[in-house]
Amino acid sequence: MKILLLGANGQVGWELQRALAPLGEIHCCTRLEADMACPAAVRKVVREIAPQVVVNAAAYTAVDRAETEPERAMLINAETVGELAAEVRRLHGWLVHYSTDYVFDGSKPGYYTEEDLPAPGNVYGRSKLAGEQAIEGAGCRHLTLRTSWVFAARGGNFVRTILRLAREREQLRVIADQVGAPTSAELIADVTALALYRLANDKDLADRASGTYHLVASGETSWHGYARLVVAEAQRHGAELKTTPERVLPISTTEYPLPASRPANSRLDTQKLRNLFGVTLPPWQTQVKRVVSELVWREKT
Ligand SMILES: NC(=O)c1ccc[n+]([C@@H]2O[C@H](COP(=O)([O-])OP(=O)(O)OC[C@H]3O[C@@H](n4cnc5c(N)ncnc54)[C@H](OP(=O)(O)O)[C@@H]3O)[C@@H](O)[C@H]2O)c1
Repeated sequence: MKILLLGANGQVGWELQRALAPLGEIHCCTRLEADMACPAAVRKVVREIAPQVVVNAAAYTAVDRAETEPERAMLINAETVGELAAEVRRLHGWLVHYSTDYVFDGSKPGYYTEEDLPAPGNVYGRSKLAGEQAIEGAGCRHLTLRTSWVFAARGGNFVRTILRLAREREQLRVIADQVGAPTSAELIADVTALALYRLANDKDLADRASGTYHLVASGETSWHGYARLVVAEAQRHGAELKTTPERVLPISTTEYPLPASRPANSRLDTQKLRNLFGVTLPPWQTQVKRVVSELVWREKT
């Protein structure tokens, strides 16, 4: 299988470099080789490589900055994605693309399914939804994988921010009225590789699999519950912290205003993905513990 990976330096892209390697010939591109703000450059790269699969892990992910840069967010997350999808269709290939819980406004009680109508509440969410729609419009075979609250041992993410703050401050105040599932870049990459392997080896599956799927770890928590686990695990591994899990205090969304509004409910139902691809999605705590352990170990060595 010849795969073109875009966004190879991001949290998910970095893990994809590892997870996709056993599937065949991987061509990894960062912003330097394929700038998603330049659709023509991306088209050129796809034409030169002519892959069977394009995995797009590149995105404009600065959720708050997007509020003041809507055109750029739209260009990277939607316009270029549409171009990419058109190229993939021309090649009769597959496009794997990642989207977000932020396509929903969070007002639904319970878990969102792929059938629920998106209604993004911020610019980033609107640009990601436009990307999903551009793929549908281009008509290529695709897996659009919506995920949430992504973290990894590298890159900018909540786990690393909480660890830094826990070293600097005696008390942390973290939002407790937004719920979702922290999902590791590792899990997203591994499930992507497994799905591609299954598509390549099961024609019947490949004939009916094109579409949108929710891909998140199982279980749910708030940012506050998530932060408490990060601090507790770091403490258990002997990290030098100023705070303790008990001193991670719950606050409401209104007490921590941000430029972009976030959904109160980010819970995504994963039954469609689990049933069709036969994957098991581990509890969110499993990977949070792994990543915290790795980060603390790194700090000590
Ligand atoms: N992070 C989350 O919490 C989250 C939640 C839900 C869904 N998602 C989705 O999951 C996917 C992967 O996200 P992630 O967490 O891995 O994001 P990330 O760590 O921010 O990585 C995004 C990557 O996109 C690249 N990129 C940005 N602008 C680019 C451009 N103009 N041209 C080429 N590359 C560009 C970045 O390159 P540089 O390294 O050069 O900046 C970076 O490598 C995205 O589709 C995102 O929307 C993320």
